Amino acid sequence: MSEDDKERTVELHYEGGVLKLPVFTGTEGERTIELKTLLGSTGMTTLDPGFSNTASCSSKITYIDGDAGILRYRGYPIEDLAVGATFLEVAYLVIYGELPGPDQLKDFSDKLRENADIPADMGTLIDAMPRNGHPMALMASAVNTLAAYYDDSVDPGDEDQVELATIRLLAKLPTIAARIYRNSIGEKPISPDSSLDYVDNFIRMTFGDTHADSELGDLFNQAVGMLLVLHADHELNCSTATVRVVGSSKADIYASVASGLNALSGPSHGGANQAVLEMLEQIRDSGISIEDFLERVKAREMRLMGFGHRVYKNFDPRSKEIKVLASQILDRDDNPDELFALALKLEAAALADPYFTERKLYPNVDFYTGVIYRTMGFPNNMFTALFAIGRLPGWVAHYREQLHDPAFRIARPRQHYVGASERRLPGLE
Ligand code: CMC
Repeated sequence: MSEDDKERTVELHYEGGVLKLPVFTGTEGERTIELKTLLGSTGMTTLDPGFSNTASCSSKITYIDGDAGILRYRGYPIEDLAVGATFLEVAYLVIYGELPGPDQLKDFSDKLRENADIPADMGTLIDAMPRNGHPMALMASAVNTLAAYYDDSVDPGDEDQVELATIRLLAKLPTIAARIYRNSIGEKPISPDSSLDYVDNFIRMTFGDTHADSELGDLFNQAVGMLLVLHADHELNCSTATVRVVGSSKADIYASVASGLNALSGPSHGGANQAVLEMLEQIRDSGISIEDFLERVKAREMRLMGFGHRVYKNFDPRSKEIKVLASQILDRDDNPDELFALALKLEAAALADPYFTERKLYPNVDFYTGVIYRTMGFPNNMFTALFAIGRLPGWVAHYREQLHDPAFRIARPRQHYVGASERRLPGLE
């Protein structure tokens, strides 16, 4: 073995001997120990709650360096994409691996426009669901039914079908979300307008033409587009990992994405943007001081929502971009937004407190999005639906990448059993 090769293995010394394990080096120098032979050779498994130390696959989609606050989709820094690419360009990049040329973009955009409508029956089905139900529950249910409406695109083994389903999902999710919102306010649905681009169409289906009168003007649509870009992928987060796990059983892409929606809905994940806004409202309405609120957090009565991240231990680059956007939209001298002002104070107070800095807790992507969405007119319970529309390209890209992974196997973790040893039913001892 050469010196070079030696560096590419680690040795595990255990009671039964020594096991050499290969070490792979990723594009950015990240090193990963491959454990494929561990169980067979040693009879032992690994225990890694929350998978903090476990890479469950190799991926070419997104790179994160959590200590340096780096996030790149397909190699492109998030800061560049936020200002230099549209959501559709980013969606294409994330899913297909390269930025689209003009013809590819036109073709992609045309297909999405052509497929934006949902079947009439499906509209009736959405209308029949509880109108005050949470949009994430309704969206996940609606997306699940897409497999039934489009059973010509449910075979993961057929690339054309997966491609067709990809287009249908991207095209229809904004239509589904907008319809759910309009039902919740007792308004008639607005059909997609094929003359509009993706983001403009979603906003029109949601608010009709009323947003055109918004004081925010053009910034409104640009801001939504940028927020979607910032959410487009985040490697193996909870919902994306869920999409992969469900997809690993060869479940169709609709079922897998519906599972991703359900995973995203939790307040520790995408549901945090709604929880942040509710927390700010609670602080404002109760009159509690920021200092007292943080004391309650430190006493573990609650978490500071929108703070902390499993991977980012310095800052979340998305949060930086979103804070700038929030300042542009909400920090106007003539009319400063009170919840944004409160969020700024809360952030400053937390970052001055060793409890948070010692634990490396900084604002994450969800801390400032809610105050922006609220100003745009989205109700609190729609915030996570916006996150979902943004994250959809990532879910789809991971589902598709997994299908072509030579190491692809059904996801089936092991457990560390600590339950009862064998015992007999009374009377059968
Ligand atoms: N407020 C107060 N304390 C916190 C927080 C918080 N938001 N987050 C973590 N901690 C503390 C936690 O109590 C623990 O302290 P100790 O070591 O003394 O027991 C320490 O920090 C480590 O926490 P952890 O729970 O082991 O960290 P994790 O990596 O498992 O959790 C997290 C990550 C995002 C779930 C968590 O930080 C959290 O609950 N944050 C609030 C919810 C939130 O904003 N979620 C959005 C995440 S980013 C976007 C997304 O994924 O969708």
